[in-house]
Amino acid sequence: MKITILTTFPEMFTPLHTSMLGRAERAGLLTIREVDIRAYSKNKHHNTDDAPFGGGAGMVMLAQPIVDAMRDVQGEDFRGRRIYLSPRGQTLTQKKAEELASEEELILLCGHYEGVDQRALDLVIDEEISIGDYVLTGGELAAMVLTDCVARLIPGVLGCETSAETESFSSGLLEYPQYTRPREFEGLTVPEPLLNGNHREIEGWQLTEALYVTLKRRPEMAEAWLSGRKFSRAQKRLVDAVLERVRQETQEPADEARNSEPG
Ligand SMILES: C[S@@+](CC[C@H](N)C(=O)[O-])C[C@H]1O[C@@H](n2cnc3c(N)ncnc32)[C@H](O)[C@@H]1O
Repeated sequence: MKITILTTFPEMFTPLHTSMLGRAERAGLLTIREVDIRAYSKNKHHNTDDAPFGGGAGMVMLAQPIVDAMRDVQGEDFRGRRIYLSPRGQTLTQKKAEELASEEELILLCGHYEGVDQRALDLVIDEEISIGDYVLTGGELAAMVLTDCVARLIPGVLGCETSAETESFSSGLLEYPQYTRPREFEGLTVPEPLLNGNHREIEGWQLTEALYVTLKRRPEMAEAWLSGRKFSRAQKRLVDAVLERVRQETQEPADEARNSEPG
């Protein structure tokens, strides 16, 4: 996969070329390239922004350097997706990342200041994506987040594909707790089922804990996972036990509150 990032701050992207993504690039699984929008400015001082029509605070990124940079990068028969990172966009989810991971090529546009002249978006952008309901100073960190979560879904990048499949969101549940050596740390021990080498028991424990943590933290996600799913008798027993555990835990504070009420 090829990911090109149009930015006025190409020097911000060093982290994308290190660690696992750096290794994937060296292995030829992925190409990440930053393109400086400023180099395309026809303005005398290579400016990339100007004051907004209609007044108001801040500056707006000029359409011309962005449109020229995009057209140069995409070339003649571009087959991929051109994305503007923007707080107004559709929120990035694991499902969206999976969809984007199947593209041959992505071109990401990073905005700055008050944003980008709408005409550049109308001319050369296919969709807008937000990384969450908050506002950043620029699109660079958002582009890095998107690149990281898409790139790790490319076969071979993680080195162990099952780890992406069992992770939070991919399986429909949040992930169960993980442990490594030593068996005991500051008095806390690793749960017994993970130590005995019985794979059926380990899988049962992992399912139980994943469901438990999802019910506690993201009940709507757990509901969606539970509804319409067919369980074996053994799985059903595990699921019922988790539901009962959560029911009791929710009931206890309510009972305590009722008991402490005066009179
Ligand atoms: C200060 S923001 C502009 C915000 C814009 N005036 C608005 O209210 O929607 C500057 C740039 O940061 C990026 N950005 C900010 N928040 C973002 C988010 N939540 N997701 C993706 N990109 C974001 C966009 O590229 C945006 O053009």
